[in-house]
Amino acid sequence: MATITGAIMSSHVPSIGGAIAKGLQQDPYWKPFFDGFPPAHAWLAKAKPDVAVVFYNDHGLNFFLDKLPTFAVGAAPEYRNADEGWGIPTVRPFNGDPALSWHLIDSLVADEFDITMCQEMLVDHALTLPMALLWPGGGEWPVRIVPIAMNHVQYPLPSPRRSYHLGQAVGRAIEAWDEDARVVVLGTGGLSHQLDGPRAGFINKAFDLMCMDAIVDDPGRLARLSMLELVREAGAQGTELMTWVAARGALTGSVSKIHSNYHIPISNTAAALMVLENRAPPAARVLAA
Ligand code: DHB
Ligand code: FE
Repeated sequence: MATITGAIMSSHVPSIGGAIAKGLQQDPYWKPFFDGFPPAHAWLAKAKPDVAVVFYNDHGLNFFLDKLPTFAVGAAPEYRNADEGWGIPTVRPFNGDPALSWHLIDSLVADEFDITMCQEMLVDHALTLPMALLWPGGGEWPVRIVPIAMNHVQYPLPSPRRSYHLGQAVGRAIEAWDEDARVVVLGTGGLSHQLDGPRAGFINKAFDLMCMDAIVDDPGRLARLSMLELVREAGAQGTELMTWVAARGALTGSVSKIHSNYHIPISNTAAALMVLENRAPPAARVLAA
């Protein structure tokens, strides 16, 4: 059976792609951000995932405002990145895992999630940059991916509770997958930021730090936020935090924090990183043995 090794949550600001391309990791502006990642690399080297299931939000590359699914699951053999207009280099294509994709789609629809299934899907900076941060250096990507896009662009957005339930349903499905695979779950976006309107530049450190605590031990607190509270506290684009909540929902065992980093600002965003380990409860370990 498949094992969920843990979750990594990260911000996904486009200018990170420019910093990687220019080799600015030691630049004083970027260093506190990039310095957060070596502990995540060390954890990944031990966790050795085969697949990454990635909760993220597309920003108009694959879905535009005319057709915007609330939740969409990739079921492609390969996912390409394309120019989004930010001037950042595209990354090499990712191998998909169609067998896991279709298993998740079957299970989610049976669980009454009316998702969109995508046999072709372009992936934008929200997926490519966290991948490039977690597996730097070029070459083949060491994991296959299953992208799960959540609408955080056009209202109405899925509620925090629905996002958490989506993650829980994905976690149950992964653990019921009849393949001996190690799966890491990623959530990308946030933390607090607002890119437009009178509150452009809004950041809320107190709220972000509360979220980074709650995501470990009390994710229900985040799931119980109303959308209005979330937008007020995190900013309109800070709602991307719900990708973290979905990723946390997918952790079915006992969860411990391995690492976190928080740095203000990267571009307009409070940038953060968390690594959570998922340990199956003892009973499940015995049953699985
Ligand atoms: C920025 C942040 C985002 O989440 C995004 O998708 C685009 C830009 C920013 O802070 O510049
Ligand atoms: Fe974003």
